[in-house]
Amino acid sequence: MFPIYLVCVLTLFSVPCVHSANYLIGAGIYDITGPAAEVNMMGYAMLGQLTNGIHLRLFSRAFVIADAQNKTRFAFVSLDACMGSQSIKLEVLKKLKGIYGSLYTAENVAISATHTHSGPGGYLQYVLFDVTSLGFVSESLNVIVDGIIESIRMAHDRLQPGNIFFNNGTLLEANINRSPSAYEFNPDKAHYEYNVDKQFVLLKMVDEQGHGIGMINWFAVHGTSMNNTNGLVSGDNKGYASFLMEQYMNGNGTIPGQGSFVAAFAQSNLGDVTPNTRGAFCADTGLPCDYNHSTCNGRNELCRGIGPGKDMFESTAIIARKQFEKALELYSSASVPVTGPVDFRQAYLDMRNYSFEVEGKTVHTCPSAMGKSFAAGTTDGPGAFNFIQNDTKDDPFWDIVRNLLHDPSEEQVKCHYPKSILLDTGEMHEPYDWQASIVDTQLLRVGQFVIAPVPGEFTTMSGRRFRLAVNETLKAAGFPTNSQVVIAGLTNTYADYITTFEEYSVQRYEGGSTIYGPHTLNAYIDHYKKMANDLATGHPTPQTTAPKDLVDVQIPFPRPVLFDSHPFGKHFGDVNKDVNGSYKANETVVVQFWSGNPRNNYMTNSTFLTVEQLQTNGKWKVFRTDAFWDTKFHWAHTSALSGESLATISWDIDATVPAGSYRISHFGYHKPLFETPEPFNGTSSIFKVVVSP
Ligand SMILES: *[C@@H]1O[C@H](CO)[C@@H](O)[C@H](O)[C@H]1NC(C)=O
Ligand SMILES: *[C@@H]1O[C@H](CO)[C@@H](O)[C@H](O)[C@H]1NC(C)=O
Ligand SMILES: *[C@@H]1O[C@H](CO)[C@@H](O)[C@H](O)[C@H]1NC(C)=O
Ligand SMILES: *[C@@H]1O[C@H](CO)[C@@H](O)[C@H](O)[C@H]1NC(C)=O
Ligand SMILES: *[C@@H]1O[C@H](CO)[C@@H](O)[C@H](O)[C@H]1NC(C)=O
Ligand SMILES: *[C@@H]1O[C@H](CO)[C@@H](O)[C@H](O)[C@H]1NC(C)=O
Ligand SMILES: *[C@@H]1O[C@H](CO)[C@@H](O)[C@H](O)[C@H]1NC(C)=O
Ligand SMILES: *[C@@H]1O[C@H](CO)[C@@H](O)[C@H](O)[C@H]1NC(C)=O
Ligand SMILES: *[C@@H]1O[C@H](CO)[C@@H](O)[C@H](O)[C@H]1NC(C)=O
Ligand SMILES: *[C@@H]1O[C@H](CO)[C@@H](O)[C@H](O)[C@H]1NC(C)=O
Ligand SMILES: *[C@@H]1O[C@H](CO)[C@@H](O)[C@H](O)[C@H]1NC(C)=O
Ligand SMILES: *[C@@H]1O[C@H](CO)[C@@H](O)[C@H](O)[C@H]1NC(C)=O
Repeated sequence: MFPIYLVCVLTLFSVPCVHSANYLIGAGIYDITGPAAEVNMMGYAMLGQLTNGIHLRLFSRAFVIADAQNKTRFAFVSLDACMGSQSIKLEVLKKLKGIYGSLYTAENVAISATHTHSGPGGYLQYVLFDVTSLGFVSESLNVIVDGIIESIRMAHDRLQPGNIFFNNGTLLEANINRSPSAYEFNPDKAHYEYNVDKQFVLLKMVDEQGHGIGMINWFAVHGTSMNNTNGLVSGDNKGYASFLMEQYMNGNGTIPGQGSFVAAFAQSNLGDVTPNTRGAFCADTGLPCDYNHSTCNGRNELCRGIGPGKDMFESTAIIARKQFEKALELYSSASVPVTGPVDFRQAYLDMRNYSFEVEGKTVHTCPSAMGKSFAAGTTDGPGAFNFIQNDTKDDPFWDIVRNLLHDPSEEQVKCHYPKSILLDTGEMHEPYDWQASIVDTQLLRVGQFVIAPVPGEFTTMSGRRFRLAVNETLKAAGFPTNSQVVIAGLTNTYADYITTFEEYSVQRYEGGSTIYGPHTLNAYIDHYKKMANDLATGHPTPQTTAPKDLVDVQIPFPRPVLFDSHPFGKHFGDVNKDVNGSYKANETVVVQFWSGNPRNNYMTNSTFLTVEQLQTNGKWKVFRTDAFWDTKFHWAHTSALSGESLATISWDIDATVPAGSYRISHFGYHKPLFETPEPFNGTSSIFKVVVSP
């Protein structure tokens, strides 16, 4: 049967060719962009890095895979977000139960994230992660949860017979190690050519005729091509790679989120992996930073990782395009059929004191704590969590948590050694828990392929040891000998970093952020081996206690939009600065409108802007929305007190744009005092795109 598959799938687009389907497959996608103004971005932990518009919309991409008899299924979701979180998964499960009963549960739903650092934050249920958003942001959480539900609903409704193919390749020049001095302490480094994973693992999903349904790939690289000065919502390099692949498969110009082919660029063991491939340099002198400490003159602030591009947009585009091109190549040539059962295992794992044996010695993990080096940040975002000192402003959130910082016990200090504890989060429970004690662990199986969702950021070598251990366990327990294991990072719970024991001893950022102590990685390996054994032998994994659902006790930071206004004689949607008459390729159209706060309505599954093209029949056709790479929607108050604001829309015209007449519109909602927001819109003058001589 192998040759039949080869004939059917070696071409990218359909070759009419029907053969029996091994699985039922469905893919779905939905907008999760959320509050594109005045909300802290999740990732860099930078106070003051607030959303102020949209470059790329964010999406939830869902895949439901069931066996051909429709007996067992799982749903894998990849979010354009910084991380999966306990609050997201718990809220999603509540809603899924209401819609589908017991079809989708904690056990067979995995919610992973791409790790973009350019999305609205505040959706995690533990205090530490809501510090820089000054509290919980329920708006961010709700949009993500609703979008996941819509994407799963779409995947569920589109479930159809189909086949899955595996491919694996190597992608060079798209990632480097940002903590090589820690990696070097790993005694097993000699087994590997590179100090980051270059492997690019891909699943291709097609229907019975061989038409593409979707694709998931896993490649380890941080979503930090856009740096901590950015305020435009963006999916970063993986979000743009998804955009490129979906445009390619659904047709250029398809409105993002509306095509049937869904392409997820999922995250893997990215802990010490940066997309800023030129390395880290001192911003003042241009010289390389201190190798061991990533400092310039003893201080971390000026040491920055530099992307391959001339600015962060070009760097994002370069790293995205490399992933897209590799994905397309591997998708086009995928020929190894995935065959065998669909299955899963899941368990909540209490990490406060997980005891196990390493080389005949009993060791254990510790209640969570963050080390001092965590506060130094990384070369992707120096000085993360640098609190503003001597800040005297009042804030309800910080009033409550102030003075609650905990003195770690002697036992805790010993347990985390050599980490020097900065925040004893595992013993801090006011106003609620500061970090996760119980994490969500899981394995999803489709045939010989096993996805290992993990609750955080495994470093390169941690991931390698973990995959080896799981792979060996599966094979030893009778799993097919062609087994493949991939790590799905940042899934279900966020429990920070996971370094090797040796990297931990160096206590760079990743080691300082390995929160359950030096044996964290080996504890995970010990536990996942048990689950892998259960999966391979058909035994159930014992059920354990779920973590607390803290969504109802969250303390939000109030940031209501009171009212919007515009200058006397103007209206919402009026043009402030109009377009020019004509433009050539490589020029940028800019138009500015009087606007309202984007938080009045997120325009979910819609847009704040359109670029329209005049058709020969005299009708206008939408050519671009705010979800395209070549448009940017930027929003700012002219003055906070008056409530006046301007939306600046730009469109970069490239050589593929046909000559003709175009216009740009802006859509939004404005808030009258004491009333609910009302829609408005406005349109630029018509302009021409001309072919340059
Ligand atoms: C598969 O089973 C589920 C739940 O039993 C059901 O809702 C669904 O309609 C079935 N789908 C197909 C394609 O048979
Ligand atoms: C989309 O555009 C790219 C270049 O911008 C081109 O290579 C590709 O073939 C186009 N795809 C389709 C389906 O038209
Ligand atoms: C980094 O630290 C190691 C010791 O851990 C030392 O041997 C090495 O010389 C240092 N490298 C640099 C470039 O300072
Ligand atoms: C972020 O990137 C921009 C270029 O796009 C650059 O001007 C700026 O210095 C960078 N900032 C940091 C903190 O890296
Ligand atoms: C951790 O568990 C071990 C046994 O598994 C026990 O001996 C030890 O007292 C526990 N430590 C704490 C701090 O609870
Ligand atoms: C804190 O700020 C106050 C004034 O706002 C100033 O008087 C004081 O010196 C500052 N203290 C430090 C340690 O910076
Ligand atoms: C697991 O084992 C199989 C078969 O020996 C091998 O092909 C695969 O590359 C291994 N590694 C992973 C990460 O799956
Ligand atoms: C992919 O290939 C690499 C070698 O390039 C190998 O080490 C790795 O185990 C493979 N991954 C999987 C999931 O098969
Ligand atoms: C648009 O017109 C203004 C003023 O006429 C001019 O300064 C600007 O360069 C023009 N922009 C483009 C992209 O042609
Ligand atoms: C536009 O820019 C691209 C890339 O810089 C260049 O190759 C092309 O020649 C330019 N086109 C025009 C019309 O200027
Ligand atoms: C999203 O928008 C598309 C196109 O306008 C529409 O067909 C679809 O029903 C919308 N989805 C939801 C859930 O509103
Ligand atoms: C734009 O606003 C006008 C009212 O000012 C309304 O009649 C029209 O339907 C709106 N257009 C769109 C596309 O929303």
